[in-house]
Amino acid sequence: MIVDADMSDLWKSAAEAMRPRLEAVVALADSKVRGLIERDPGYFPMYTKAGKWRHSGETWTDWCAGFLVGLQWLLYRQTGNQFWREQAENHCRLIEHKKHDQTVHDLGFIFLNSYLPWYERTGDARLQEVLITAGRTLSGRYQPKGGYIASFIGPQSLFIDIMMNVPIVFYAARETGDEALLTIAQTHCRTTERTLVRPDGGTAHEGLFDAETGRFIGQSTHQGLSAESDWSRGLAWSLYGFGTVFRYTQDPADRHVAVRNADHFLERLPASGVAPWDFDAPEGPDRLDDSSASAIAASGLWQLADLVDDPQRSDRYRTATLTILDALCTDRYLSGRDPDWEGILKHGVYHMHKKLGVDESVMWGDFFLLEAVCRVLEA
Ligand code: GLY
Repeated sequence: MIVDADMSDLWKSAAEAMRPRLEAVVALADSKVRGLIERDPGYFPMYTKAGKWRHSGETWTDWCAGFLVGLQWLLYRQTGNQFWREQAENHCRLIEHKKHDQTVHDLGFIFLNSYLPWYERTGDARLQEVLITAGRTLSGRYQPKGGYIASFIGPQSLFIDIMMNVPIVFYAARETGDEALLTIAQTHCRTTERTLVRPDGGTAHEGLFDAETGRFIGQSTHQGLSAESDWSRGLAWSLYGFGTVFRYTQDPADRHVAVRNADHFLERLPASGVAPWDFDAPEGPDRLDDSSASAIAASGLWQLADLVDDPQRSDRYRTATLTILDALCTDRYLSGRDPDWEGILKHGVYHMHKKLGVDESVMWGDFFLLEAVCRVLEA
């Protein structure tokens, strides 16, 4: 027990020592997000091009609107500035119509970071209705034969990213008592565990199924290096997503997957603390980072530290969060010294093969960085 106490003192003193740098990230986010919404009101960007949010590059799929609103809620939480609350509420209204969008699998990304914080502050049933509708809409992508919620690609495709979105189906199930929704969400998690999570705790990006019979055909990828590789962001989605699901289910099977993902992520994380875009990308000076994968993992590890029973494991995850933030909160990754760069966190990658947002800022990188920073500042 003395060892545990010492370890927890260690992360607490490390967090305290980092406080000024973390507060500087909040200030940077305040100025960069303010710049974005003043320059381009009502615009919901995904990735920068040469550091600029507004460009004509394709979206591939439109899944990021919730992150801009999420940033605004985080800024309100940290600063208490009413400006940010007004912005968050206004931007929420602009995306409400997406609750009926059956063409994407991203309604968790979109609504859990926008309407959920709004609802939690107000208890307004109309806001909760938006969340429940979005959860029901996402459940409409469920494939009963294969037992999974299909990706935007089509009924034959399961993505690891959906682990970040299925929590909105759990939410809708819990708030309505709808058992059918709960079964969909639980079955999706077990199918994902069985088909996309590998014995070593790594993950595949995509699972392909026979849409007619539901038979699993094999693993595949769109954004990773190969079907067999560890696409670092996909692994971070899984570790964060299964952790969030455990908060709804209290099923140790969900937490166990998150722990296996976390341990594998940390095993593969380079000493620099920043993940390459794919852990299997050949090492060398040309290998690009995906800073967003590390930002997601930093926040997901802090969440998981609160969920595991073993205090030493918990301390290890908190220390890992701080190590990652220590690496990200530096001039290499933050845009503080670059007034013309419109994002907050540099060196992210959206879609390597399509050459979209490569070595750029990405909206979710900015969001999860600030979320991780807030978690530590509020600990
Ligand atoms: N669409 C989720 C991602 O690019 O990670």
